[in-house]
Amino acid sequence: MKDILIVYWSGTGNTEKMANLIGQGVMESGSKVLIKNVSEATIEDIEKFHTIALGCPSMGSEVLEECEMEPFIESIKDKVGGKKIALFGSFGWGDGQWMRDWVERMESYGANLIDEGLIINSEPDSKGEEECIELGKKLV
Ligand SMILES: Cc1cc2nc3c(=O)[nH]c(=O)nc-3n(C[C@H](O)[C@H](O)[C@H](O)COP(=O)(O)O)c2cc1C
Repeated sequence: MKDILIVYWSGTGNTEKMANLIGQGVMESGSKVLIKNVSEATIEDIEKFHTIALGCPSMGSEVLEECEMEPFIESIKDKVGGKKIALFGSFGWGDGQWMRDWVERMESYGANLIDEGLIINSEPDSKGEEECIELGKKLV
């Protein structure tokens, strides 16, 4: 059994990089991590794990990606109460509104959020890479 689950959606790879770096931080802390693209993730995955990181970039107009991530988040709303959840994602030109909305939404489902959501502009630079690794360690 792995210790921590990471589920993400990524169109051009930036949020995927964040997911892998968070996973690196988890492993550097001596724990096991399962990283899944949301297209492969199931509600049962969410049920099995107590600590979960969810990643999605800002899409549309400051919303989650609408074809896969949005319906997935809707489908797990009754499953995340009491769980430790970290949110992360890359953005372009906005000010992070999608992440503030997402944090509020997960809190309304009863999740215990770790921090306020890690957001990184485009591809993580070396500081961003460090922030992702640190988040992975914090999850452990
Ligand atoms: C269709 C589309 C809509 C987007 N909408 C926003 C937005 O509302 N606000 C923002 O800050 N960035 C927006 N972006 C930029 C992405 O969030 C940014 O390119 C991000 O790095 C993509 O992450 P990814 O590589 O994981 O797909 C949008 C990008 C696309 C393709």
